[in-house]
Amino acid sequence: MAEPRQDSHGCGNCSDLEEDKYSDDDFETSKLGTKEYWEEAYQKELETFKDIGDVGEIWFGEESMNRVLRWMQKAKIPEDAAILDIGTGNGAFLVELAKHGYRNLTGIDYSPASVELARNVLQAEGLTDVTVKETDFLNCGGELAGFDVCIDKGTFDAISLNPDDNKEGKKLYVHTLRDALKDSGIFAITSCNWTKEQLLERFCEGFEFVQELPTPSFQFGGRIGNSVAALIFKRVR
Ligand SMILES: C[S@@+](CC[C@H](N)C(=O)[O-])C[C@H]1O[C@@H](n2cnc3c(N)ncnc32)[C@H](O)[C@@H]1O
Repeated sequence: MAEPRQDSHGCGNCSDLEEDKYSDDDFETSKLGTKEYWEEAYQKELETFKDIGDVGEIWFGEESMNRVLRWMQKAKIPEDAAILDIGTGNGAFLVELAKHGYRNLTGIDYSPASVELARNVLQAEGLTDVTVKETDFLNCGGELAGFDVCIDKGTFDAISLNPDDNKEGKKLYVHTLRDALKDSGIFAITSCNWTKEQLLERFCEGFEFVQELPTPSFQFGGRIGNSVAALIFKRVR
């Protein structure tokens, strides 16, 4: 399944995928990496949405969607671009994309409750032509292909936390992403677990780094850091 090894396309420090010598492999796992956790969380959010119309948690806040949307508009991503929201959760990003004119939208999530919630949220906004599917990104049987843009906000983070097999999960994620994107397709990732450098290392083969989007920084003990990394990559072969 692995593609032939390629040059690093400027993102540098490429590791061999098969050996998987990534600097992020000693990361601690957590229940946030399990399907059970997300299913329970979205079951509760679904009930709350049905009761009071609250869509629930917007991971990393509204600005995390706005900064990607601003980049997409500046980059003149056409409104008919095929866009995939990987691990859509409550579907809030799909709603914002639709409000910004994007009309070829697909959201996937492996949690059935998330899919039901996202469909409910979209329906409440009158957005009936957005596709939301129950799909495991790591086990989708080649079903995901032909996308111009793939967006991830917190899903690679969750996959990286899987207590069962996060190492294999991270590798599978990169393989599936490469298959899902068209040539020159765009990958926009927002992560709170990984630094820019770790993401550059992970999304190295088959991707070219395009830009880092500015995120709020903090200063602690004389050091400056960012709580969230938001990066744009381009699929290259
Ligand atoms: C931190 S939440 C982020 C949700 C959404 N992207 C947002 O920004 O609100 C992580 C999401 O990834 C989903 N997820 C985790 N692993 C997945 C997988 N293998 N396939 C599909 N979805 C997955 C979870 O169900 C959850 O909805």
